[in-house]
Amino acid sequence: MSKDFEVFSGGVAVITGAGSGIGAGLARRASELGMTVVVADISRPGAEQVAAEIRAAGGKAEAVVVDVSQPEALDHFAALVNERFGDVRLLINNAGIETIGYAWEIPAARWEATLNINIHGVVHGVRAFVPYMLKSGKEAWIGNLSSIGGFSVMPTQTAYVVTKHAVQAFSECLYLEMEMTKAPIHVSSIIPGMIKTGIFDAAAGAGEPEGATRHRTVMRELMAAHGMELADGAKIILEKIAAGEFWVSSQPEMTEQVTAGRIEFMRTQAAPTLAPQAKQLLGI
Ligand SMILES: NC(=O)c1ccc[n+]([C@@H]2O[C@H](COP(=O)([O-])OP(=O)(O)OC[C@H]3O[C@@H](n4cnc5c(N)ncnc54)[C@H](O)[C@@H]3O)[C@@H](O)[C@H]2O)c1
Repeated sequence: MSKDFEVFSGGVAVITGAGSGIGAGLARRASELGMTVVVADISRPGAEQVAAEIRAAGGKAEAVVVDVSQPEALDHFAALVNERFGDVRLLINNAGIETIGYAWEIPAARWEATLNINIHGVVHGVRAFVPYMLKSGKEAWIGNLSSIGGFSVMPTQTAYVVTKHAVQAFSECLYLEMEMTKAPIHVSSIIPGMIKTGIFDAAAGAGEPEGATRHRTVMRELMAAHGMELADGAKIILEKIAAGEFWVSSQPEMTEQVTAGRIEFMRTQAAPTLAPQAKQLLGI
């Protein structure tokens, strides 16, 4: 039996942003493995559809509407999950949004939303759920969504990149805090290379400057042409989390390439430069 079936054959999985994309893929896979899935999303139709699909396939799932940008919403959510479902075995802080535009052109509200969803959503997800996990004393797994963007920089994806660097650092510290306190909680940093989802769809771009449209189109086309299929990505991610790996890359070769560039940048302490592929992507 593979490790993911062994580790996640039962228990409760809580996945934020599970109403579409990677979160939905992980929710379906967690159910296939045997878990009861709490499908959390800000979009009620999205969460309900994914939960209904899982139930129709014979699994156990419930939709819950949660806005991860609100710390108190995550407190209520954790209390509700504890009361209704009991101990959480797997928590994936996945909800995230892309924001495109020059740093000074992104409206303040869009900056706030990006930082609050992508960083604070993860931080307060952990803050709200970990005390319950510790109280139960049972083994549990937490995966936080970083990105290849957590190890690289890209002009016009500044807001997004900032959040992913922050989440990467947060997960590394959290891992060490669990080790220091001998908590039975495993922490993984999930690093999707490129998995086919709707993250670059125009609808997700509300509040962005006008210039974002071109970049979104290029990224959407790139994702359609080269992205990994959602089900494949979800399977790899849960296999690696179950194996207790901290680095959970969907496409390890992409992670290696990007981190190698970052190491070289730091070693040489040169000024930031763009790789030819990045220039092409940005149309410069
Ligand atoms: N798709 C990729 O290739 C890729 C690469 C690197 C990192 N990621 C990360 O993976 C995560 C999921 O991305 P995706 O590609 O599946 O995107 P997606 O847009 O398909 O899904 C994101 C989900 O999050 C939900 N959401 C947005 N704001 C929310 C909020 N405030 N509260 C609760 N839910 C909210 C959306 O409704 C949506 O269902 C993100 O953190 C993203 O940064 C994705």
